[in-house]
Amino acid sequence: MSDVFLRAANINKSFAGVHALKGVNLTVKKGEVRCLIGENGCGKSTLIKIISGVYTPDSGEIEIEGHKYSKLTPSEAMNRGIQVIYQDFSIFPNLSVANNIAMNTLRVEKKKFVNWKLIRERAQRALDHLDVKLDLDEKAEALSVADKQIVAICRAIIQDAKLIIMDEPTTALTKKEVTSLLKIITQLKQEGISVIFVTHKLEEVMDVTDTVTILRNGSTVIDGEKTSDFDISKFAYYMTGREIKDEPFVQQIKNGKEVLRVEHLSLKDGFEDVSLTVNSGDIVGVTGLLGSGRTEFAQCLFGQYPPTSGKIFFEGKEVKIKSVQDSIDIGIGYVPEDRLTEGLFIKKSIASNIYVGVLDKYKKNLGISDIRALKEVGEKWVKELAIKTPDPENIISTLSGGNQQRVVLAKWLARNPKLLILNGPTVGVDIGSKSEIHKIIRQLANNGMAVIIISDDIPELLANCNKVAVMKMGRIVGEFDTKELAPDQLASMLA
Ligand SMILES: Nc1ncnc2c1ncn2[C@@H]1O[C@H](COP(=O)(O)OP(=O)(O)OP(=O)(O)O)[C@@H](O)[C@H]1O
Ligand SMILES: [Mg+2]
Repeated sequence: MSDVFLRAANINKSFAGVHALKGVNLTVKKGEVRCLIGENGCGKSTLIKIISGVYTPDSGEIEIEGHKYSKLTPSEAMNRGIQVIYQDFSIFPNLSVANNIAMNTLRVEKKKFVNWKLIRERAQRALDHLDVKLDLDEKAEALSVADKQIVAICRAIIQDAKLIIMDEPTTALTKKEVTSLLKIITQLKQEGISVIFVTHKLEEVMDVTDTVTILRNGSTVIDGEKTSDFDISKFAYYMTGREIKDEPFVQQIKNGKEVLRVEHLSLKDGFEDVSLTVNSGDIVGVTGLLGSGRTEFAQCLFGQYPPTSGKIFFEGKEVKIKSVQDSIDIGIGYVPEDRLTEGLFIKKSIASNIYVGVLDKYKKNLGISDIRALKEVGEKWVKELAIKTPDPENIISTLSGGNQQRVVLAKWLARNPKLLILNGPTVGVDIGSKSEIHKIIRQLANNGMAVIIISDDIPELLANCNKVAVMKMGRIVGEFDTKELAPDQLASMLA
């Protein structure tokens, strides 16, 4: 018997105006952990949708355990053991852990009556199998991101998964949670289950995957070579076709004018007694683990949660920020962490998502919007951030995940705020674009903007910030000049 589980050969797929996959090949063996990497928009998610039957390829062949398909349907893919865990995990928030894990199995068996006892038993068995403890009766909405993911993995396992595909599974996880996920993946592998793992965090790939497939611009450049034969710069080279060098931030405006000063700022259940100053030309990092209060701090400055006590000064004057509008009016921009749900009008065009924030600046007589000027704003930023699309008038959902992220960034850059707060500015962004985005941020600072970066990506912080504040349990526990900070020192503070 062959040890190949899945073979996709010469797959082509086009969308209106975009040849997304060009003769792509992918072969995965049983029990193999494969990473699938490549730049934003290179076709990873499209390929996954094809091997799980969601999209039909224009041409090409898919073979699962020797069975050939030219038109694979989602249920055929599932019956053959292909399970995809999407980023939203497709969890039902109102249902319990047990139901989320095991409901589907009953549906498949076409049972007329719901046997609650059986559901609980099966769900418990799946959890035991992964050696994790979760309360079966807890509602899924109350779970952490990591636990939701475990529920999704359990659900895949009890549906007899033979290949589990995870599209960017670690984006929203803490370091500790990533470690436990990687352990689970190793365990799946030992049981002969294959895994395809999509990520932009190349360090993780090194730890857990056996082999690598690299797509560039819709074509396969590497398929199935050993991960251990690569290092990060070799990955980057194959992904982008060029060498990526990240030069450190050279601050050009030193001791710039004060833009933001907060004094003893507190938010109930969020953070406490935070004092921080950010000047024009500064890039200040605010770091800490999830739950450290770093995101709440940003959200408070952006008016999402007004502070419970303390003072905020903007350009030297005390201000009260009670709403998002207050914050925007003062000159603050915020690029949220969860850009896809917090930041975009998903049914609108790419361009209008970018210019939505500057509508008031482009009014003609009688208050009519100057559509031409607005479209130019859209086009300018699509170009500036290299957003991959044939036409900025296309609807935003035609963009790949990473390119949607850039649109949110563009929306705020177009407003030209005095203080820009970026929460995880390069989460989900490929290595080449990451360095482009870093370049843009530095340029903004060197042109006089004050910037706050919220991140736990240590190299990102050290290379781009002149100052880093570390938060723990809602308080700032240290503030450092990055030039005087070693990577290990910062890492140990975050541990
Ligand atoms: N439904 C669609 N309609 C039109 N174009 C699409 C559609 N889905 C994807 N595309 C295009 O196909 C290309 C590949 O997109 P895909 O989502 O597969 O990229 P990806 O490798 O997953 O990128 P990312 O790392 O950003 O998630 C992109 O140019 C994208 O704009
Ligand atoms: Mg994708």
